[in-house]
Amino acid sequence: MNAGLEDVVAAQTVLSDVDGKNGRLIVRGVSLDDLVAKSTYEDVLGLLFDGFFAPSGALSGALGSARLAVFDHVATADQALIALPPVDGMRALLARLEDGDDLQSALRLVAAPAVFIPALLRFKAGQPALTPDPSLSHASDTLRMLTGDMPSQQQAAALDRYLVTVADHGLNASTFAARVVASTKAGLTSSVLAALSALKGPLHGGAPGPVLDMLDAAGSPEQAPAWIAAELARGERLMGFGHRVYRVRDPRADALKAAVRMLAAAGAIDPARLALAESLESTALAQLKAKKPDRPLDTNVEFYTALLLEALGFPREAFTGVFAMGRVGGWIAHAREQAETGRLIRPMSVYVGPQPQVAA
Ligand code: ACO
Repeated sequence: MNAGLEDVVAAQTVLSDVDGKNGRLIVRGVSLDDLVAKSTYEDVLGLLFDGFFAPSGALSGALGSARLAVFDHVATADQALIALPPVDGMRALLARLEDGDDLQSALRLVAAPAVFIPALLRFKAGQPALTPDPSLSHASDTLRMLTGDMPSQQQAAALDRYLVTVADHGLNASTFAARVVASTKAGLTSSVLAALSALKGPLHGGAPGPVLDMLDAAGSPEQAPAWIAAELARGERLMGFGHRVYRVRDPRADALKAAVRMLAAAGAIDPARLALAESLESTALAQLKAKKPDRPLDTNVEFYTALLLEALGFPREAFTGVFAMGRVGGWIAHAREQAETGRLIRPMSVYVGPQPQVAA
């Protein structure tokens, strides 16, 4: 058996295809390149939800209303909840949503991370939470609720591109967790809670915060090679590199690198930070290649996620929660797809423990 279930096919899906050999991602028949060029996050939600909920169609207005609806829960956050890491506080608030399986329940679950993460960050800073504005796009409203100011067109476009880029990605660990729970017919909130719990680990959606820690520790382009060499010599993993499925560059890394460069062109990223990241990336790739010539280890989605979210004003401890803002759409569509099969997921294990003593 493979402890990581690699090469095990555990679902049939119409939602997305991750081609790890060629570095391609398709979401419901649309390539990632086309998706980021032509779609907003609301469009991608419509694409993912199509056929899984009735009625489908334009979702922007309904998603705005859902942001307002879930905002009521923000007032229930007590000091103990606010003191939790943002993703854990958000998970605790999200657990209060009804465990339905209709479109309204789905949209509230999509709205929840976008409303709860900014609210919790503001509470931590001793500021009041800001009421959602349903007339804005999901990305613009999220940034406005975070900072209190209307974002620039470039900032809103950058967050929107991020949400589109991470909306769905095959049977990753969190999506699998969502499908396992959905197969028990537990409801969408339970599926999303399971997925969120899987996402927060550093081997999955918890990596982008540590990417910034790595940039800080490396210090400067001149110091980066020695720092990386020392990390690899100690057997540490470089965050933002390597992937279970991709054996070439993760196409999402390029989609986000382009967004980071757009922000840089608009003066919204510190050029020295970008120069350090680009230099660390090329040094890391060269050293990983030298250390593991037989195991292609390339840049993954988390590397440029870190730069992008930092430039948009999210603190690093909130990055996993922002990842959930995008991926929640995919989790819900997968949960619905799994529930429609009507089949409980229940694999087997191999017992390797002791046998009962046989009386002499
Ligand atoms: N840095 C250094 N070495 C690495 C890295 C890395 N980032 N990734 C893998 N390796 C090494 C492993 O140590 C292992 O070496 P060994 O054979 O000497 O033990 C070898 O490459 C193969 O690694 P596996 O563990 O088999 O690779 P796996 O498919 O399990 O790893 C994973 C995928 C978990 C993403 C890994 O590459 C990793 O830990 N990366 C860093 C964390 C990260 O960026 N996570 C985000 C992933 S993207 C996402 O989930 C959204």
